[in-house]
Amino acid sequence: MTQHGGDLTAAPVRTEQGSTAASQADGLSQRTRLTAGWRDFDRPVTLREHLRRYGPLPRRPGALIDAVTQAGLTGRGGASFPTGVKMRTVATNAARLARGPAVVVANGMESEPASEKDQALLARAPHLVLDGVVLAATAVGADVAHVCLPRGKRQLIASVTGAIAERERAAVDPIPISVHGLPHHYVSSEETALVHWLNGGEAKPTAVPPRPFRRGVQQRPTLLDNVETLAHVALIARFGAGWFRQAGLADAPGTMLTTVSGAVEAPGVYEIEAGTPVGELLKLGGAHADAGSILIGGYFGSWHDVADVARLPMAPPALRRIGASPGAGVLFVLPPDACGLSETARVLAWLADQGAGQCGPCMFGLPAIADDFAQISNGRPTGPVHDRLDRRLRTIEGRGACRHPDGAVRLARSALSAFAADVHSHLSRRTCLSARHGRPRAAVLPLPRTLEAMGWQ
Ligand SMILES: Cc1cc2nc3c(=O)[nH]c(=O)nc-3n(C[C@H](O)[C@H](O)[C@H](O)COP(=O)(O)O)c2cc1C
Ligand code: SF4
Repeated sequence: MTQHGGDLTAAPVRTEQGSTAASQADGLSQRTRLTAGWRDFDRPVTLREHLRRYGPLPRRPGALIDAVTQAGLTGRGGASFPTGVKMRTVATNAARLARGPAVVVANGMESEPASEKDQALLARAPHLVLDGVVLAATAVGADVAHVCLPRGKRQLIASVTGAIAERERAAVDPIPISVHGLPHHYVSSEETALVHWLNGGEAKPTAVPPRPFRRGVQQRPTLLDNVETLAHVALIARFGAGWFRQAGLADAPGTMLTTVSGAVEAPGVYEIEAGTPVGELLKLGGAHADAGSILIGGYFGSWHDVADVARLPMAPPALRRIGASPGAGVLFVLPPDACGLSETARVLAWLADQGAGQCGPCMFGLPAIADDFAQISNGRPTGPVHDRLDRRLRTIEGRGACRHPDGAVRLARSALSAFAADVHSHLSRRTCLSARHGRPRAAVLPLPRTLEAMGWQ
């Protein structure tokens, strides 16, 4: 996937801030905020280019938590939690708990295989993320920040490290920022796993409470945010909450990065206004006219019929009503000759393999539902597989120490519903709907191989 979309022709936006910020904001558009200039540079922008594009770092961090709250920014890492609330909690805890200053952690792990937006952002606009890191750190009273990246992405690590070195030479940041390469299992990017690793442990989720906002890195209150979230913080600090809200919906403001892939002509990362209809986003990516099913939200997401969701806004509140979520902004279009059940079976087996093996639902539950799904997919069930699977899904749900098992349950349930006709065909050993388009394709969803040698440390 190489394409990085951004609408360069949309109207410029107004700003509520001073003239310098206004002239910079005028250069951005409703759909080209984070992605401004991406088409001009196929490399990380330099600090000088970055400051020319967005203007200097603002000097009013005290008001930043209020601005982020009024902007209605929610986390772009998957759970859509209100960022202002998290910042305020960390700032309050840092002042009250007397465990030392707060810590900021930027989550750039992007373990979701069908997502590329964080890598694309860091590879082109690292300074926007780093601005967000230092501004958020100043606002919550942190004296140190960490950027967590997947260990195997050496170029990405080099690009962020290079950007930090550039900032150190220019003495722009009031606090030190460290870059870390972590093992990249699917669950290693969960927030408590990052904290555990930064504290010297394995990159495995830990039981909560305490959550990082109370007791995180070095036992201190820790603000842990997705890198895209922090890039939006950098823009809100410059141009204000009102400017941020000029894009998107009242209950889902701003823009968001999305990754569109699968049966589309132009797979890639697109910045859209939050709430852009799913069908419009599919058009942007050049989805094939006969697209039938899509996966929304990645491997913790859900399968849907395109016709059912095309008019729905790509935004958490609207998708929640149908039991879906944009997650980290992922849309995957299933090719018509691919089998949604076999794809789901592959992903479930992979998710079972990616668990940290610490809780029952992960150790026993996920392999069991992956096996049931494989039996449905290959049409050779042992016993009443459908009832057994249904019982197992209910048993597992809500039982893990982290949300890994719940994500897998959601994916499995949605597949049983979206591909109900195929389930029936598979179990009655008839040709399934996708196979009627020809021979079903074996594998379309990406499943990265985790090297044994990677370990968890
Ligand atoms: C299994 C699992 C994997 C996750 N992977 C990521 C990830 O790759 N990147 C990310 O930003 N958040 C990921 N999250 C969510 C983080 O735990 C955390 O909520 C998020 O980084 C907070 O940032 P935000 O509020 O800016 O979204 C994951 C959560 C779970 C349960
Ligand atoms: S549910 Fe799985 S991934 Fe989450 S803490 Fe338990 S064993 Fe680890």
